[in-house]
Amino acid sequence: MDWGMENRIAKLIKPESGRAVWLAIDHGYFLGAVSKLEKPGETVKPLLAFADAIMLTRGVLRNCIDAKNSPAVILRVSGGNSIIGEDLSKEAITTSIKEAVRLNAAACAFSIYVGAKYEHQTLLGLANLINEAQEYGIPVLAVTAVGKELAKRDARYLSLSCRIAAELGAQLIKTYYCENFEKVVNSSPVPLVIAGGPKLRTERDALQLAYDAVQQGAVGVDMGRNIWQSDNSLAIIQAVRHIVHENASVSQAQELFDSLKN
Ligand code: R5P
Repeated sequence: MDWGMENRIAKLIKPESGRAVWLAIDHGYFLGAVSKLEKPGETVKPLLAFADAIMLTRGVLRNCIDAKNSPAVILRVSGGNSIIGEDLSKEAITTSIKEAVRLNAAACAFSIYVGAKYEHQTLLGLANLINEAQEYGIPVLAVTAVGKELAKRDARYLSLSCRIAAELGAQLIKTYYCENFEKVVNSSPVPLVIAGGPKLRTERDALQLAYDAVQQGAVGVDMGRNIWQSDNSLAIIQAVRHIVHENASVSQAQELFDSLKN
């Protein structure tokens, strides 16, 4: 692997643990100002010290994140859709590789919608992005999006999407946790992280999700709502780190959470 590519991936997946805790705040690119992310800079400021990377668009990066105090950046470079638009899968590249270089991105993120109306457009978009990013040593994170069809998140579908993303050359994949998650992990030759999905009922549920995912082969999490929509976001991100980087059990992480929460 080229030095630049290897160095960027090492910023995202920590060599000491082989694991990753990323904070996703890119939701606004198709959802607008979601609850608790109306002012992304304020919401995430205290959390940044505990994230190996933040995933976001160039607009939020430039306007809301201090260049002198930022973890590694995973730049979302796809969009062009909205929650009220024709079809969520109608997504394409929004941000050039030159921008990614200018913003010192450690990776670019692009969503694919396997089985959806615009599947072909998103798969070719991913392939083209990888072709360009490879020239600059920038890894690409493929996001296996499911649009509004959350029920699609089963092992058969996700392993198909992840395998296609890896075959097209993605160096990293973000997917969902599901029953029989090992099937998804086994179908991908590149590292997988999981999204947290909509806010779960309790913080313990989020800890269990992170635990199950890493036990079954994910290299970590790229969590959003289950971190920053929590009333105890600082405590939950540290508890998730305890699981991901230190192999803590759910009970140990819950203990840490309880000792840190307000
Ligand atoms: C999905 O397309 C985006 O990357 C989301 O912003 C991300 O999956 C959200 O993370 P979470 O589901 O943990 O809020």
